[in-house]
Amino acid sequence: MTNPGGVTNSLKALPKAVLWDNRILCLLDQRRLPGERSLIRCNKIEDVFECIQQLAVRGAPAIGIAAAYGLLVGLFESDRSLTALRANLAERAHYLIAARPTAVNLPWAVTRMMAVTSGEFGSSGELLDRLEQEAIAIHQEDISACHQIGNHGVSLVRQRPNVLTHCNAGSLAVSELGTALAPIYRAYEEGVEVHVLVDETRPLLQGARLTAYELQALGVSCTLITDSMAAHMMALGAVDMALVGADRVAANGDVANKIGTLGVAILCRHFDIPFYVACPVSTIDADTASGANINIEQRSMMEVTHVMGEQVAPDNINAVNPAFDVTPANLIAGIITEKMLVEPPFDQNLKKLLNGS
Ligand code: MRU
Repeated sequence: MTNPGGVTNSLKALPKAVLWDNRILCLLDQRRLPGERSLIRCNKIEDVFECIQQLAVRGAPAIGIAAAYGLLVGLFESDRSLTALRANLAERAHYLIAARPTAVNLPWAVTRMMAVTSGEFGSSGELLDRLEQEAIAIHQEDISACHQIGNHGVSLVRQRPNVLTHCNAGSLAVSELGTALAPIYRAYEEGVEVHVLVDETRPLLQGARLTAYELQALGVSCTLITDSMAAHMMALGAVDMALVGADRVAANGDVANKIGTLGVAILCRHFDIPFYVACPVSTIDADTASGANINIEQRSMMEVTHVMGEQVAPDNINAVNPAFDVTPANLIAGIITEKMLVEPPFDQNLKKLLNGS
């Protein structure tokens, strides 16, 4: 199926993950999708923390944007000295960064906001105005990065239009458009007969609830599978390439992404299918040498023993719930960023990308 109206137009039909309007932060409650579109108005920083930790807002770039605005929630109403405001901001930064440990976009965005506070300001109002500008800039730059990722990845999808994706790296995970889904949307817009196999992504079903919802809303042909069906579909020849997002890319090119990504990458190697990653440069962490140094978030056992609140395992069963895994760089064909498609050797080429050469 091709797209008659253009994805850019259809994007307006999708709810935005993060909204900042008149100094009010509203986050789409993604836990309720696809059934219900409901917004959470964040009145205090604890609301933002909870939305990030409980995955009302999720996806690496989206939690960075939410935290940038979140730093400011409730501060415009209070009247305090510049010194007191700076101390409070430092405390808030520390608090928000602790909400989730794996996606580097969260500390990246908060650190970028905090860098602003060291400037010269005549009053706390002036500092808050400047911080608001910075949060809006982080948000706007993410929109432009996603569109550039689409442009840099579209030729891959033209050549390999049957794409498998895992988790949700679409519009709902970012400002708009997505990272892994951006090249797919661009190809669809061009009239490429693209088809997406969507891994449901247990335990929290971001593929079934969010990716399938987005693709369907925009009219992109897609088929939902359980994670365990990926190997079979590849054996049948139904997958030309895999394309996923990232929560943190280490300096050597190892990629942390949603649990199950590593399995997809290993399958791709077995079936000789290229495995690509798409992410903004803000997801690349030059300070983390390799995947072994990435802190993998461990979440509640309840997310494994229950499906959408319904218990599916016996009482008192032991379970583990690592939210992410690490795909080693040697299984990755390329990393699509807003600057360029980075190819192996990743240790050298990521360094060049970050140094701007
Ligand atoms: O736990 P989540 O839903 O925040 O995990 C999200 C992912 O793993 C995405 O693939 C990643 O953040 C890329 S988002 C563009």
